[in-house]
Amino acid sequence: MEKSNNIHISNHPLIGEKLSTLRSINTSPELFRNLVAELTSLLIYEATFDLKTLSLDIETPLQKTRGMKIDGAISIVPILRAGLGMVDSALKIIPTAKVWHIGVKRDEDTLEPIEYYVNKPNVEKANTCIVLDPMLATGGSLSAVCSILKSWGVNNIRYIGLLAAPEGVKRLEDDHPDISMFVASIDSHLDENGYIVPGLGDAGDRQFDTL
Ligand code: PRP
Ligand code: URA
Repeated sequence: MEKSNNIHISNHPLIGEKLSTLRSINTSPELFRNLVAELTSLLIYEATFDLKTLSLDIETPLQKTRGMKIDGAISIVPILRAGLGMVDSALKIIPTAKVWHIGVKRDEDTLEPIEYYVNKPNVEKANTCIVLDPMLATGGSLSAVCSILKSWGVNNIRYIGLLAAPEGVKRLEDDHPDISMFVASIDSHLDENGYIVPGLGDAGDRQFDTL
């Protein structure tokens, strides 16, 4: 895993191969969904490497020993709608996580984020939030979601995505320098419509077959 400031880019061969298939125009919606889920599992593993743990007593069939458990509550926060395809695999890895949905979509002309579903959950002390969204383009959507979470009192936020544009990474580093970001790739740039190049197209449409 490469790290520069707050952005971690996975260089794992399994992630690289799956991402290449995901990008292909010939990949069907079914395979696309499966790959989004598999990539999420792999990235969650990398993104949770430093979670705090508590030590506890356990008993194996042979003897008593010390074990551990994750310290504190974890919430996963999919950004609707494209983040939905990442939820099930995140919950498989962290089955005790809560799921907080936040709906944000880009205005297609201005590329500004529009918040359309914000429902404050019961925020516990020491909550770690893992925000899920396959695409970090201008960064407007992720930055808005981080601001919402902080307004709820969440201080420990990390982001897992598949593709990022340099413009979005910069926006997050400017707006929320405390957020760690874990992605499979940083691509070249955004095109005139705000799409990541070379990218994979529209992640929501490709998952849900609404092209
Ligand atoms: C996509 C993507 C991100 C956002 C990224 O969602 O899933 O949420 O765009 O762009 P940004 O970094 O420029 O804000 P979209 O708005 O297409 O909505 P959808 O998930 O409903 O398809
Ligand atoms: N949202 C997407 O789904 N794809 C992009 O390339 C940019 C934003």
